[in-house]
Amino acid sequence: MAVPLLPAAARRLEGKVALITGGARGIGEYTARLFFKHGAKVVIADIEDDLGHSLSNHIGSSSFSFVHCDVTKEKDVENAVDSALSDYGKLDIMFNNAAILGAPKFNILENESSDFQKVLNVNLLGAFLGTKHAARVMIPAGRGSIITTGSVISSIGGIGPHACTSSKHGVVGLMKNAAVDLGRYGIRVNCVSPYGVHTKMTRELFKVKDGDEIPSLYWNLKCGEDVVKEEDVAEAALYLASDASKYVSGHNLVVDGGFTVVNQGLCSYK
Ligand SMILES: NC(=O)c1ccc[n+]([C@@H]2O[C@H](COP(=O)([O-])OP(=O)(O)OC[C@H]3O[C@@H](n4cnc5c(N)ncnc54)[C@H](O)[C@@H]3O)[C@@H](O)[C@H]2O)c1
Repeated sequence: MAVPLLPAAARRLEGKVALITGGARGIGEYTARLFFKHGAKVVIADIEDDLGHSLSNHIGSSSFSFVHCDVTKEKDVENAVDSALSDYGKLDIMFNNAAILGAPKFNILENESSDFQKVLNVNLLGAFLGTKHAARVMIPAGRGSIITTGSVISSIGGIGPHACTSSKHGVVGLMKNAAVDLGRYGIRVNCVSPYGVHTKMTRELFKVKDGDEIPSLYWNLKCGEDVVKEEDVAEAALYLASDASKYVSGHNLVVDGGFTVVNQGLCSYK
């Protein structure tokens, strides 16, 4: 279904330009659609060329485009940022969202250093390169919002594999340092950190095939039958991208219904 623009008065990103890595599917795709609906010009950057082109063709607007980008390669990230500039004249919002889970092996002895490095390259080096090249063009403009997708595994252990957990803790550290560094130029830097959304990545974590049920997760907040969805994460990213959060920087916005504040072993509210 085509993505209609909201009425002008309701658009929260009117006139802004956003670059979203990992924008071809999952949380990145939902965020790209939402940003577009809110009036942003959107560039999605991904290694999945077919998915990226198909989403861009489906949106079918000159304000939405795809660029091939492997976030582990500095030239690709530089080129993606420069594409936003050449296509739309500026970059207001950088969403470092691309990541991989890595092999879902929870025993550290089964983890190879090459696999660990690969996850860090995509998740942490990729976020660093995105932050660096966004800053390169945002500093002269004196404004910008940089958002990186963290996770509940940015703040607690025992849920994700070692490499992914390390990388997601790392992106929060990077975000805090960059928020301090770039604040003097009017650039805000934040993270959005979801709990388990039922995307391809979660199916990999639970080793579940496409179409099969994902085992039910622990939920703290009761929202009827509802669980956290891509839309919920996209709405949080929209807030951080928009001027509504103009004084929010250095913040890890957790979208987990209270999951990370519960000690499930001791919780007495059951
Ligand atoms: N799904 C969840 O439950 C969950 C929970 C917490 C955090 N997250 C985070 O949300 C973000 C999006 O995850 P998702 O669930 O939508 O996963 P997904 O696998 O559906 O999407 C990830 C996207 O990143 C792209 N990508 C992977 N490697 C890349 C690279 N080297 N360069 C460019 N693009 C690359 C993929 O092609 C894909 O389009 C990730 O940062 C992930 O860690 C997801």
